[in-house]
Amino acid sequence: MHGFGGPEVLRLEEVPVPEPGPGEVLVRVHAVVLNPPDWYAREGMPDIPPELRPSFQLPLIPGTDVSGVVEAVAADVSGFAVGDEVIGLLRFPTVLQSGAYAEYVTAPASDLALKPAGIDHVHAAALAMSGLTAWQFLIELGHDHPSPFQEAQHRPMALDSGTTVLVNGAAGGVGHLALQLAKWQGARVIAVASGAHETFLRDLGADEFIDYTKERPEEVVRDIDLVLDAVGGPHSRRFLRTLKRGGSLYPVYFGQFDDEENAKLGVTVTAVTVRSSGAQLTELGSLVDAGRIRVAIDSTFPLAEARAAHERAAQGHLQGKIVLTVA
Ligand SMILES: NC(=O)c1ccc[n+]([C@@H]2O[C@H](COP(=O)([O-])OP(=O)(O)OC[C@H]3O[C@@H](n4cnc5c(N)ncnc54)[C@H](OP(=O)(O)O)[C@@H]3O)[C@@H](O)[C@H]2O)c1
Repeated sequence: MHGFGGPEVLRLEEVPVPEPGPGEVLVRVHAVVLNPPDWYAREGMPDIPPELRPSFQLPLIPGTDVSGVVEAVAADVSGFAVGDEVIGLLRFPTVLQSGAYAEYVTAPASDLALKPAGIDHVHAAALAMSGLTAWQFLIELGHDHPSPFQEAQHRPMALDSGTTVLVNGAAGGVGHLALQLAKWQGARVIAVASGAHETFLRDLGADEFIDYTKERPEEVVRDIDLVLDAVGGPHSRRFLRTLKRGGSLYPVYFGQFDDEENAKLGVTVTAVTVRSSGAQLTELGSLVDAGRIRVAIDSTFPLAEARAAHERAAQGHLQGKIVLTVA
């Protein structure tokens, strides 16, 4: 990217192979995944007030989620060797775009995990940001970095067979993995999505399905323990009325809430900003290898067609992840 704008600002160019710094490895990329921050960055984050807007240095190579093979290792790295197949969400959110739409990318070793053996690079890459987001919201935050958006630390609610979880946006990247993690914990899960995703979500274990194009979930469910709203944003507040006292709402994309209203209803609203974690990706990978969760792919495009992949993303209604393949 030499400038900000629509998908047309993505151009394929030859650049030098990057060199790993201390604590890093060089990864030969096989698959790289599209995530919402990629198009927020591509657009230059126009929705964020200028004083809060992160600055991106141009030219920029987007991409954070990668699956590939270790090509070189810095002298101080011990956990990985040349030839290892690895996956990672790279440097997030310290750096919002880490140059993964490429044939080679450098990666902090602490952000990497060995690729789950039972799946290919396309599916493995797709686990990174979405899987870590679902994990850090639902299972374990795994760090004590303060959040820029809330004072209290996010502490995931304990889930078991007595818990009912509603996942809104259940067919998307975060949603379909969150649904499966909640099922793995034993919870009863209500999935909300457009009707085309019903069979897919029931196959993943959804106990109930609500087609939001036919009925409003906030009008048909009550006494929910936890809503994970993977759509989030300004409309997330409508889910407060579906919660029982003591319940929680996790808006994955931040919305506007009123502390007084939350206190009156006896509910908690809490969120996280996902962080890179090789250790948590290892745990997610073992769930994949054990057949407990599966990663869905919406579509794949060759790296050279990143623009078409971003155009697909802009159409919405994703079922799983969009992945770029690198020859
Ligand atoms: N807090 C964090 O650290 C963090 C991390 C990752 C992502 N996020 C944010 O989380 C959001 C979701 O990310 P994602 O990667 O999962 O996106 P995604 O893959 O695009 O999924 C969004 C899903 O929501 C569904 N949807 C759209 N409108 C809906 C509605 N009104 N009601 C119910 N479902 C609706 C879409 O399909 P249908 O409409 O066909 O059902 C789609 O499957 C993004 O805003 C992203 O920025 C935040």
